[in-house]
Amino acid sequence: MGLTDSGQKDSAESHARRVREMFAKISPRYDLLNHLLSANIDSRWRRRVVRKLKPLLTKDARVLDVGCGTGDLSIELFEKTAARVTGIDFCRPMLKLAKAKDARIAFIEGDALRLPFADASFDGLTIGFALRNLTSVEQGLGELLRVLKPGGVVAILEFSRPVVPLFRRLVGFYNRYLLPWIGGVLSGSRGAYQYLPDSISKFPDQQMLATMMRTAGFEEVCFENLSGGIAALHTGRRTSRRI
Ligand SMILES: C[S@@+](CC[C@H](N)C(=O)[O-])C[C@H]1O[C@@H](n2cnc3c(N)ncnc32)[C@H](O)[C@@H]1O
Repeated sequence: MGLTDSGQKDSAESHARRVREMFAKISPRYDLLNHLLSANIDSRWRRRVVRKLKPLLTKDARVLDVGCGTGDLSIELFEKTAARVTGIDFCRPMLKLAKAKDARIAFIEGDALRLPFADASFDGLTIGFALRNLTSVEQGLGELLRVLKPGGVVAILEFSRPVVPLFRRLVGFYNRYLLPWIGGVLSGSRGAYQYLPDSISKFPDQQMLATMMRTAGFEEVCFENLSGGIAALHTGRRTSRRI
């Protein structure tokens, strides 16, 4: 490994460590702040993900919820579909809260960039507000594709770019000024709620994410805007056996 490679590895590892520590710190208030800062729209978005996937999942389908955090999306999947759901996250305090909410679901510790599963293990994958946090979105998409069975579907829920310019400016103002302030006061970690708008602004918009999914090898990629594009739900299928 050359110097550049090792430098990149170090910075990737330190990014992952910072993300993990940040979620550990805000974990006790994560759910409360999510619902408060989004006026509870986040719950509606997660329900939308499950409604979209439900008709595509046969009984006993295996679904992995990546970056499951405190488990809300995993629980919604478990309760509303007949799938066998596993949640995975690399932040232990977030997982602990998930396990306390629903002990029937397998919540396991692991890294989204090195999923501890064989190729083609799952019929469905979800990843809610976690892709943005990965050191490499491209690597994350590649790993999702790897563990998906041919014919399987991925659903990516992530913040995105509001479509109407005036609304975009309003949301930008809220994210940049109000959200770090309210989030900082209530969580005791202003850094975490400063990171949130920063990571949203750096994340690819709807079209770009769809392009990245196609480049990674997903097919039938499409997306729908949620709440005017504050968030977007992207879906894609792995059709081929080869990656
Ligand atoms: C914003 S939270 C989203 C949690 C949950 N999916 C939800 O909808 O509320 C992002 C989660 O992704 C997790 N995460 C970030 N990077 C990860 C990685 N490389 N591997 C596993 N989990 C990761 C964090 O620990 C955190 O719990």
